Amino acid sequence: MSSYAITRLVLTDFRNYGHMRVETDARPVVLTGHNGSGKTNLLEAVSFLTPGRGLRRAKLAEPANIAGSGNWAVAADVSSDEGTSTLGTGLVSDPAGQKHGETAGRRSVKIDGQSVSGSSALADRIKVNWLTPQMDRLFQEGAGGRRRFLDRLTYGFDPAHGKRTTVFEKVMRERNRLLKEGRQDPAWMGSLEKTLAETGIAISAARQETVRRLNAAMESDADSKVSEAFPKAVMALNGEVEELLTDRPALTAEDLFREKLAESRALDAKAGTTTVGPHRSDLSVLHKEKQTPANLCSTGEQKALLISIILADARVQAGQKGQAPILLLDEITAHLDQTRRQALFDEIEQMKTQAWMTGTDYELFADFGSRAQFLTVENGTVREMALGQ
Ligand SMILES: Nc1ncnc2c1ncn2[C@@H]1O[C@H](COP(=O)(O)OP(=O)(O)OP(=O)(O)O)[C@@H](O)[C@H]1O
Ligand SMILES: [Mg+2]
Repeated sequence: MSSYAITRLVLTDFRNYGHMRVETDARPVVLTGHNGSGKTNLLEAVSFLTPGRGLRRAKLAEPANIAGSGNWAVAADVSSDEGTSTLGTGLVSDPAGQKHGETAGRRSVKIDGQSVSGSSALADRIKVNWLTPQMDRLFQEGAGGRRRFLDRLTYGFDPAHGKRTTVFEKVMRERNRLLKEGRQDPAWMGSLEKTLAETGIAISAARQETVRRLNAAMESDADSKVSEAFPKAVMALNGEVEELLTDRPALTAEDLFREKLAESRALDAKAGTTTVGPHRSDLSVLHKEKQTPANLCSTGEQKALLISIILADARVQAGQKGQAPILLLDEITAHLDQTRRQALFDEIEQMKTQAWMTGTDYELFADFGSRAQFLTVENGTVREMALGQ
């Protein structure tokens, strides 16, 4: 059994890195270094190897090194049960298309040297999940962050989910545009809404399947160290589309969703948006033992709930597919006491997940010893830490 592991990572003009190359083995990776040295940037680079805009949700040109060419690139060798893949992504700028002083360009994605269109195909080759300090506010802020969190968990079980969400968003933008322009050709609208209904119901069903799977995993995990140290969470997905799917076959729900879309054209034209769909749903999380909604839990409790969910997901994937996802855990020790830190490290070791963890203090990770590899980040360079010095 082997998990997903990055064995080589190369960054070019990515944020504060000019050219950086590092080789890693399948063990967890601990990155330590001063504030501003480039730890989060390195995790962000790894996050770009998955569908979407990375862990900072950056605009395409933003990661380009300000002193560089304007392009950026991330490449990696990823090993898994299926063998080794070479993944690459980045910004290829197109000066001819430049307008209004913005960088024009496109995201390039390559898998084993072949260009592919869009980033969703990456979900077939690598599974990555992350927790960042910004996500400490996930339960306080808007539903979008929670949906993205759930969608990332869903890619792990169902790589087609990335494609589905991309198609849904693209077609929804098209519908919004037609409504705005007052072009309501019924056949055209009908065909867009048919696609929205099909993909929308599939998105909701896949998300609900993830929720069900993770709730079951957290429920059944009675006597592990993690369940002693971290609170159990109960997740639920709520929204109109979820209501349509309750106690109904997917095909019936699709028809109902399509009818709702058709009925809401006038309203949506006025609102300037599509008012019904899975892009409106919200993930709620309950602290099971306390029966308290996550948004009313303490900062440390909220972080612990997120860790419970991420670990439950990794455990299910490690158990069912034999391969745990790569975890990017930025400043993970910030709110954890020693018991929780220990439980987290033990779980990471047991699942054999290549967790990439950052911190300013080496000491907090010292318990890992030779079970992890230690890298020092300094001003956009990365080297192996000389232990024992
Ligand atoms: N596009 C860019 N070009 C060059 N440098 C950048 C770019 N974007 C961000 N930086 C710089 O990269 C540096 C490292 O940022 P990063 O967030 O990785 O630090 P860090 O090691 O995680 O620090 P902390 O411990 O404070 O979280 C920062 O000084 C930041 O200003
Ligand atoms: Mg950081």
